[in-house]
Amino acid sequence: MTIAQALKKATFLLQDKIPRPRFEAELLLAHYLGVERVYLSQKDNIKIEKSENYFALVQRRAKSEPYEYITQKVSFYDTELYVDDRVLIPRPETEMLVDEAKKIIEQEEIIKIAEIGIGSGAVSIMLARMFPKIQIVATDISEDALSVAKINRDNFALNDRITLVCADLLQGVKEDFEMIVSNPPYIANGCKLECNVVDYEPHAALFGGERGYELLKAIIAQSQVKGARFLVCEMGYDQKEPIERIFTQIGVKYHRFYKDLAGFDRGFVVQF
Ligand SMILES: C[S@@+](CC[C@H](N)C(=O)[O-])C[C@H]1O[C@@H](n2cnc3c(N)ncnc32)[C@H](O)[C@@H]1O
Repeated sequence: MTIAQALKKATFLLQDKIPRPRFEAELLLAHYLGVERVYLSQKDNIKIEKSENYFALVQRRAKSEPYEYITQKVSFYDTELYVDDRVLIPRPETEMLVDEAKKIIEQEEIIKIAEIGIGSGAVSIMLARMFPKIQIVATDISEDALSVAKINRDNFALNDRITLVCADLLQGVKEDFEMIVSNPPYIANGCKLECNVVDYEPHAALFGGERGYELLKAIIAQSQVKGARFLVCEMGYDQKEPIERIFTQIGVKYHRFYKDLAGFDRGFVVQF
């Protein structure tokens, strides 16, 4: 089967299943062949070896499995990370969490950081690459997630800068930190999500409790107890009010919320 024939068949298989069938058929074939997408149109009469393996990937995508799990890679910030179904796929809006943390590290010359819920490692790895002096202790409640974070941390040769710990929030972590960052699960239990998310991504990475912001509340409390000066978190678009109430109750020195590129409230920076 030639490239042109394979793309025609794959586009048909993906039709009505995903928004851009031809485009994704091409992306998957470029991934399968290990070539740039442009190669496909230049060499469309070349024969594909073992085309059944390509169609196995197409069938997975036709069942709504996220493209990133099929290819086991995701673009994040200026680079690519390894991902599989043991971790949440890092979202573009989380790049803003990295940027907010970056501003504070620069202004305050911060060295000691904790991340709660490292997942694939996206946030800690970007920060550690940008700031050669910082040391990060990153926790996750999921051993599976930590295994993926370890793959990425080691790929970027950051094993002496990022320490991975299996913990509920920061429980049992003895060190103190100047700043804590987190993109915790913040979706309310039972909230209806698209099937490519709820059927494939780890629920421990998505759902944060009955109201959704329970873990955020616990992270704010634990950061204060730990004596961190700054906390930077991602949150749900509808959680500004309850989070603001928490800040008023506990009395913080300073706080501000930031929006994502779509204009939704997406996170906060707080100084204790
Ligand atoms: C939304 S994902 C974020 C992953 C990654 N930091 C990112 O931004 O792509 C939340 C992560 O928090 C972890 N998590 C959930 N509850 C936790 C808890 N109580 N303590 C530590 N980590 C937790 C999940 O396993 C998951 O990896």
